[in-house]
Amino acid sequence: MVLCQRMLICCLFVWLFITTKITKENVLKIKVRNGVEDDRSSTAERWHHRWRYGVYSKVQTSGYTQEGHLKSCTTSETVPEGVPDEPSWMKAAHSGGFLVLPWPGGGGSSDPAQGEESQGCLMLRSGALLGVTLICVAVLRKWIAGGVCRCSVRLDGRTVVITGANAGIGKETSRDLARRGARVVMACRDLTRAERAAEEIRRSTGNGNVVIRHLDLASTYSIRQFAKDFLDSEERLDILINNAGVMMCPKQLTEDNFETQLAVNHLGHFLLTNLLLPKLKSSSPSRVVNVSSIAHRGGRIDFDDLFFSRRPYGALESYRQSKLANILFSRELARRLSGSGVSSFSLHPGVIRTELGRHVEGWFPLVGLLLKLPSLLLMKTPWEGCQTSLYCAVTPGLEELSGCYFSDCAEKETAPEGQDDVVARKLWEVSTRLVGLKNTC
Ligand SMILES: NC(=O)c1ccc[n+]([C@@H]2O[C@H](COP(=O)([O-])OP(=O)(O)OC[C@H]3O[C@@H](n4cnc5c(N)ncnc54)[C@H](OP(=O)(O)O)[C@@H]3O)[C@@H](O)[C@H]2O)c1
Repeated sequence: MVLCQRMLICCLFVWLFITTKITKENVLKIKVRNGVEDDRSSTAERWHHRWRYGVYSKVQTSGYTQEGHLKSCTTSETVPEGVPDEPSWMKAAHSGGFLVLPWPGGGGSSDPAQGEESQGCLMLRSGALLGVTLICVAVLRKWIAGGVCRCSVRLDGRTVVITGANAGIGKETSRDLARRGARVVMACRDLTRAERAAEEIRRSTGNGNVVIRHLDLASTYSIRQFAKDFLDSEERLDILINNAGVMMCPKQLTEDNFETQLAVNHLGHFLLTNLLLPKLKSSSPSRVVNVSSIAHRGGRIDFDDLFFSRRPYGALESYRQSKLANILFSRELARRLSGSGVSSFSLHPGVIRTELGRHVEGWFPLVGLLLKLPSLLLMKTPWEGCQTSLYCAVTPGLEELSGCYFSDCAEKETAPEGQDDVVARKLWEVSTRLVGLKNTC
C-alpha cells in the first residue's frame, strides 16, 4: 500500500511535468507598442524563453498599432537551437511599422507544409497527454480500490448471516460468500428489495442456498423475533456480519425511544449478536465481523446524553458516536469471548459508492449531482468495498487478532478513542441495560 501511494505521487508529478511541457505552447511573446518592439521586456522574454525551451518555435507579438487597434500575430518561424539570431521578421519590425503575420495553420499560413507539421505536432502532444492521463487514472483507481481479499477458501456447509444485505457492501459480501458455497441468510428490513437482491445473487452464483429473513434493526422486537426464528430453524452460525447502517439521517427516535443512528448501527447489532451467541459458540470456530468506519475518529460516547435529548442533535456527531461504538463493542466482545472459539473483528471498508449518503444528498441535491462524476474515479465500487469484510470473515488464522481493527485487508490501528477499554466496558453495560438483556457473555 505504501509502495502504491509512492507510485501514485510519482505519477502525479510526472503527469504535471509532462502535461506542462506538452501543453504549454512554445511561444515567445513580444510586446509591440505603436509598431515598435518594447525592447526592455522583449530582450528579457527572449532570454527567459531560450533558457526554458532552448529554442522558440513561434514568436507572437501583441500591442497597439499606430491606428490604435489591438493586433496579435504569430509566426511559426523556427529558430534552430544554438542560433542566437533574431527571426528575420523581427528585424523587419525594427525597421518598419507593425508587422502582422498570419497564424500558422489558421488558413492564412503562407507555407502549407509548415501548417501540416504543426498539426502533426499537436496530435502527437494530444496523444501523449491522453496516454499519460490514462496511466495516471489507472494507478489512481488501483490505489483507491485498496486491498483485495485473495483467500479462496470454500464455505460449503457453513452458514453466514449478513445484516443490510440487499444493497451496497452487504449485497456484494453476500454474493462472494454465496460463490464460496455458504448458506447465506440475508437479514433485511425490506423483503421486496431483499428478494430481488437474493434472486440476483442466486442467479449469478448458481447457489440456491441464499435465503432472506426479515430484520429491522431499529426495533428490538424485530431483532428478538429474528433471533428466535433463526435459533429455532438453523443448525449453525459460522459467520455473523454486522453490516447494516444508516448515516447522518435527521433526528428520529425508534419505537424503543432510541436515537436512530445509535439504535441501528450499534444497539441493534449489540442485541442481535448477544442473542445469536449460543449458535456462534456451538459452531465454533466462528466469527463476528463489525462494519465500522474511519468516521469513528473524533467520535465520543456521551454516556450522559447518548440520544441527544439535551444537547443539540448533530447528524455527523451521532454517526461518529455509533461507529466508535462498533469498534468498542467488537473489542469488548473479543475480550469476553477469549478462549470460546468465537472471534470478533471491526473494520473500515473504505469510501464506497453506495446508497449510504442518501440523507446527505437529500440536503444538498446539487452537490450530490456535481460529485457524481468525480465519485466514479475517487470512490470504491461496492465490490472493492466488501473486500475487507470478506478478509475478516474468511482468512484462515486470523483468530489471534480477535478484537483488532482492519482496513484495506490489513490490520490497522484505530484512533485512540477506539482503544479505550474503560469506555468499552461501560458501553457494554449501558447497552445491555438499554436493550433489556439479562445475560450476556
Ligand atoms: N459506503 C461507505 O463509504 C462506507 C464507509 C464507511 C463505513 N460504511 C459502513 O458500511 C456499512 C454498509 O453501508 P453501505 O455503504 O453498503 O450502505 P447502503 O448501501 O445504504 O446499505 C445499508 C444497508 O443497511 C440496511 N439498513 C438500514 N437501516 C436498517 C435497519 N433499520 N434494519 C435493517 N437494515 C437496515 C439498508 O437497508 P435498506 O436498503 O432497506 O435501506 C441497506 O441494506 C454501514 O455500516 C456503513 O456505516 C460505509
